[in-house]
Amino acid sequence: MQIIRELSALRNTVRTWQTNNRRIALVPTMGALHAGHMALVAEARKRADRVVVSLFVNPTQFAPGEDLAAYPRKGEEDAAMLEDAGIDVLWMPGVETMYPEGFATTISVAGVSEGLEGAHRPGHFDGVATVVAKLLGQVQPDLALFGEKDFQQLAVVRKMVADLNIRVGIVGVPTERDGDGLALSSRNVYLTPEERTAARALPDALNEAAVAISAGESVENVLQRARAKLEAAGFGPIDYIELCDAASLRPVRETKGNLRLLAAAKLGRARLIDNVAVSATA
Ligand code: PAJ
Repeated sequence: MQIIRELSALRNTVRTWQTNNRRIALVPTMGALHAGHMALVAEARKRADRVVVSLFVNPTQFAPGEDLAAYPRKGEEDAAMLEDAGIDVLWMPGVETMYPEGFATTISVAGVSEGLEGAHRPGHFDGVATVVAKLLGQVQPDLALFGEKDFQQLAVVRKMVADLNIRVGIVGVPTERDGDGLALSSRNVYLTPEERTAARALPDALNEAAVAISAGESVENVLQRARAKLEAAGFGPIDYIELCDAASLRPVRETKGNLRLLAAAKLGRARLIDNVAVSATA
């Protein structure tokens, strides 16, 4: 595995691969890697000849007052995990490489980025869309992989790539979970042991609600009950728990088509997000 920090070196490596018709996959990350990230890496290795993992804690996707400074940084452990996983390049640009003096462009994906996370984290998806567009331009992969854990992010990236005619296949990978169902996240380290035990209420509430909605119960009642379950477990504030169309991410009340149930809530110092598929009512 090569660790690359300069764009010119990355370009040289990529050019050689392209000359040899290698299929290139990119897995963008902010590091503090866990089995969720590694599931993306494993999928990338299956689908491509060469795998690049990017590690960049992107300052522009953190709003003022969010956890940019506290965000876990584990460069050496991350590099060791990626080496073991057999990736080809770890792309670790510095902030000055990503955003040199005078950097002036922002990509904003209207519609799909506006509700849910977008409503609670102003500017977040502009930061994500812009950095992902840059990473795609730098690495020029044939495919890029993203986790369904960040379901709205995946939808924003798909829309940006379609709208800007970026020549890359976007692959969504199912959420990797701990034994009790909690979605793996770099932010789970913020949970105390007691909070970690209580945290399973989030996937439990989502799964129960998904079953109840599919069985035809009133969506309003089901969401209310899920909210109460989270509050009883110590979550709060609950930013949203919402049934949405899986493509547009617009809130829906009819239980037809491709549906997704998404939630975000604070538990102690951690803000947790999760989502599950909901089968349409029979
Ligand atoms: P980060 O939070 O490090 O996540 C990197 C990728 O791993 C994302 O596609 C995310 O959805 C995926 N991922 C995280 N937890 C997962 C889990 N439990 N199961 C499956 N996949 C999981 O998301 C970002 O970084 C950034 O916004 C980024 C796209 C890198 C842009 O800066």
